[in-house]
Amino acid sequence: MVVLTFFNHAGGVAKTSTIRDIGYVLAEQGRRVLLIDMDPQANLTKWLGIDEDIELADTVYPAVIGTPDAEGDLDDSNLLLPSPRRVHGLDVIPAHLNIAIIEREILSVFMGVLRLREAVRRLEGYDVVLIDPPPSLGQLSALAVVAADQVVVPLPTNRKGLDGIPTVIKMVREYKKAAPGLRITLFVLTQHDKRTRHDRESHDIISAQLPSIAPISSPLASRPAYYSDAQVEGMPIPVYAPGSDADLEIRQVAAELLTALEGAR
Ligand SMILES: Nc1ncnc2c1ncn2[C@@H]1O[C@H](COP(=O)(O)OP(=O)(O)OP(=O)(O)O)[C@@H](O)[C@H]1O
Ligand SMILES: [Mg+2]
Repeated sequence: MVVLTFFNHAGGVAKTSTIRDIGYVLAEQGRRVLLIDMDPQANLTKWLGIDEDIELADTVYPAVIGTPDAEGDLDDSNLLLPSPRRVHGLDVIPAHLNIAIIEREILSVFMGVLRLREAVRRLEGYDVVLIDPPPSLGQLSALAVVAADQVVVPLPTNRKGLDGIPTVIKMVREYKKAAPGLRITLFVLTQHDKRTRHDRESHDIISAQLPSIAPISSPLASRPAYYSDAQVEGMPIPVYAPGSDADLEIRQVAAELLTALEGAR
């Protein structure tokens, strides 16, 4: 089993979209895939079409904080992740707005930052676990990244993407203090608009500078219509638009991720 967290503290860089679509492709190829939504926005949950009532008990909350007993005391001895939802061939542990309280409550849990890592390592029956953190450097992101074996960095080919790189690298170094084997496996280039000179130049800079740190993927093109329509339908891109260029690009990047994982072994 390999545990991958798609980390970039910057917002809107396609963490969630990429997890949804790559997760789908890996599952379609026969791997047993679990997606874990660690973002109170719950976009991954919604975009996979999971819209029935979700309670805190269905999320990572009980595993990282514990379940209150009859007296209201926290029993933190079990560390069990809840049964996942099954959708599009994927298992999903959904999120809820209220997982935001983990940010505060985890601070009073002894060695709290390791809790998701420990819970995930008790899972059985998965080949791949993909974790979607929120766009922040708070405790939810720390839990998510520390739980990983390897980090995938979604990166838009623009100024925002370039500006965020030093912080991403610095933070992975910080998180390594709690998860020493952690490393960046792949930069997944997202939202690439090859018609603009700005994106082409950013892509050139990324191609020149980042491979010394980790491989870079071929770019996922900017396709606003596909991405917003797939969200509304609650479908991964390969389900919403099979055979489209968007679908083919995602399959290509999924293959590159598998190659990068082989190389990282
Ligand atoms: N290749 C693409 N082409 C066009 N739009 C895209 C593409 N990839 C993602 N988007 C859009 O960009 C926005 C941000 O994507 P997404 O929510 O996946 O990023 P995120 O990093 O998870 O965001 P957050 O930081 O809020 O969690 C979404 O509206 C999504 O539809
Ligand atoms: Mg997201």
